[in-house]
Order: sequence, then structure tokens, then C-alpha cells
Amino acid sequence: MNLISNQMAGYLNEGSWIRDLFEKGNQLKKIYGEDKVFDFSLGNPITEPPENFRKELSALTANPPKNLHGYISNQGLPGARETVGRFLGDLYNHPIYPESVVMTSGAGGALNVVLKSILNPNDEVIVLVPYFVEYKYYIMNAQGVPVYCNLDENFQISVEEVASKITARTKGIIINTPHNPTGCILSRESIFSLGELLKEKEAEFNNPIYMIYDAPYTQLTYDGVENVNPFASYHRVIYASSFSKDLGLAGERIGFIAVDKEIEGHQTLISAFIFANRTLGFVNAPALMQNVLARLDQLVTEQEEYRERRDLMVEVLEEANFEFHKTQGGFFIFPKSPIPDDVEFCRIAVEKFNVLIVPGTGFGRPGYFRMSFSLPLSTIEGAREPLKALRNYFK
Ligand SMILES: Cc1ncc(COP(=O)(O)O)c(C=O)c1O
Repeated sequence: MNLISNQMAGYLNEGSWIRDLFEKGNQLKKIYGEDKVFDFSLGNPITEPPENFRKELSALTANPPKNLHGYISNQGLPGARETVGRFLGDLYNHPIYPESVVMTSGAGGALNVVLKSILNPNDEVIVLVPYFVEYKYYIMNAQGVPVYCNLDENFQISVEEVASKITARTKGIIINTPHNPTGCILSRESIFSLGELLKEKEAEFNNPIYMIYDAPYTQLTYDGVENVNPFASYHRVIYASSFSKDLGLAGERIGFIAVDKEIEGHQTLISAFIFANRTLGFVNAPALMQNVLARLDQLVTEQEEYRERRDLMVEVLEEANFEFHKTQGGFFIFPKSPIPDDVEFCRIAVEKFNVLIVPGTGFGRPGYFRMSFSLPLSTIEGAREPLKALRNYFK
């Protein structure tokens, strides 16, 4: 009996090895206690939302306007869209207008809405490797085909590699910076040369190619590394992001799509996004959260707590002699596995050293592993000796 679709059964089967790993981690937590298992696998933000957010949320619920919890515009409250426009405008020094913004259920909702709006069946979308795991499912949700393209050794875009993957069916490329899982930030050179390539390829194939820009870690950047303005690099950018990570609102599902007012077919695109938002079942991004956003002048994140964790994580990994790129943004780091088989390495890490890490294979890039440092400092510090012992096990 086919109780679920073959496609879904395939997805579940594909992910089973990673669930086994986490199952082992959970068993160990039960045996040894939560604090004796060093779980670096999760991407939940550690910071609380900013003070002004919490103040406005309390004020709003203490004195709720009528119909606060009813349906609202599928595009989103004008005030919330204004706040998003101001936020992006300040971030990139580039004007984004409220009529060019659609509020969504997180960045995941935004990406599903965008892909549903632009893809015909079998259209291709380029995904840079290593990737955020959900991208391929989002693309397939919209009947598209993911096409994988490696980032280079420094986790920057190789224009030649991307060029070799573009075909007459290419409808978009998903760009994520600061990057999950590597913690790297795409350079100006990477983004602008990609913009140039996409312009050439659009002309060659006489087909629009969208740069879909996923940037939920934009405000979490360290050491003054530049966040490049994507709208200046290319004329067909669709920005699909959220406040999940930098404002610590992941569970509230508050995200957005934004385009430049000059993008070709501006109104058609916005109408498509609004329609997809409704018919994918999101209807509108959470009303209470939009009401709070509408009351905020500023959306400033506290980066210090993450920077402190990044510094400690780097120190601990250096001491253990792992090879890695220092995280520039977000809260992940992607060291090299000391053995080619990263899945085996992560299995030994959990079974022998109570360290839970995610194999690079899960992100399409074997030979590495991902750690999240969005954790109490004591967990990172507590893993100092186990990580050294793990590294030495492979000497
Ligand atoms: C790169 C990237 N994009 C999108 C998302 C989804 O974000 P949201 O929770 O806002 O849907 C995540 C969440 O981990 C992410 O890391």
C-alpha cells in the first residue's frame, strides 16, 4: 500500500542516515545527560529579539487594536513593508519601496513563493555547493530541477563553473551570503562577476535568469567584512530573506521578498508573489509579528554574543589542529574532515567522543563537517578536550 507518495518516501529514505546520527546523539543525551553531549548540529539562534521589539510586542498585546488576529493583506501590512524597505535601504544604501516588498512566512516561505512564481515544470535552478539542504526540496516543490555547482576552495563563486551549468532552461541561481554551512561571505568580485555572467547568458539564451538572494544572516557579520549590495550587481535580483536569525525570531516565521522598483515586470512579479503566498497556504505572514515590525524604527541586532562565540570556536578548533576558514558571518563553521569519509568521521565523533556534528555530505560537499556555534559558551568550552581527542584519534 502506498500510504505516502513515492517522492516523499524517497526523500525520507535519503535523509535516514542523518536521522540515525541524531538518534545516536539523543540516546547519548539520555544516558550521559544533556550537558555531557556536545551538540553542534542545530541552527537555532541563541539571542533574544531586540529590546524595542519586545517592548512593542508587550504594548501591542496589552492594548490590542480590534481584529489584531484576523486575516490581513496577502502582500503584508504597509507599515511592516515600510520597515523592511527602510532596513534594506540602510543596509545596502539602496532604496527599496514598500510596494516592492511582500511579507512571507520566513525565508523558507519566501523562497517557496518565489520559485512557485517563476518556474515552469523542468526549469533549472542552480544551487551552489555546499548548500542549505532545503533548497532542493523548495525547487522540486515548484516542479523545478536543482542543478548543482561547486563553490571554489575558498567558498567563493567560480564564474567558469557557473557558466558551464547554465542552459536554455536555467531560470535562476540561489545565492546565500553569509553562507550556511561554511560561514563565508561572498566577495564583491564573486557577486559582481556573477551578475556580468548572468547578463551575458540572458542575452545568449534570450531568457530571464533571476538571482535569488537568500540572506538571513546579513546582520551577523564579523571583522568588518562587507555585505555587498546585490541590487547594484544585476538587474534581476529577487531578495528572499527573513528576520529569523539576526533578530532571533525563527519561530515567529517572519520573512520577506523584495525587488528593485526598476526590475522588469515589477507589478507582474509582485502579483505572482501575492498569489503564491495565498495559494501555497501561507495566506499572509503572521499578523501579530507584522504589527510589531510596523511599529519599529530600527532593526538592529546584537552581534557581540555571536562574535564572542565565533572567537572561542575558532580558538578551540585551532588548538585541536583542525583546518578551516574562519567564520565571517552567521553562526556556522565548516572544517575539513581529517579523513575523506566525513560520515564515518562524524559517526566516530558522536559514538566515541559525544560530539554531535553534521557531515559535509549532507550539504553536498563530502570531506568536511559543519558545526553551529549558536550555543552557550560553556558547551563550546566543554568540547575543547573532546575535540582535541577526536582530532588525535586520526593522527
Ligand atoms: C541559508 C538559509 N536560508 C533559509 C533558511 C530558512 O530560514 P527561515 O527560518 O526564515 O525560513 C535558513 C534557516 O536555517 C538558512 O540557513
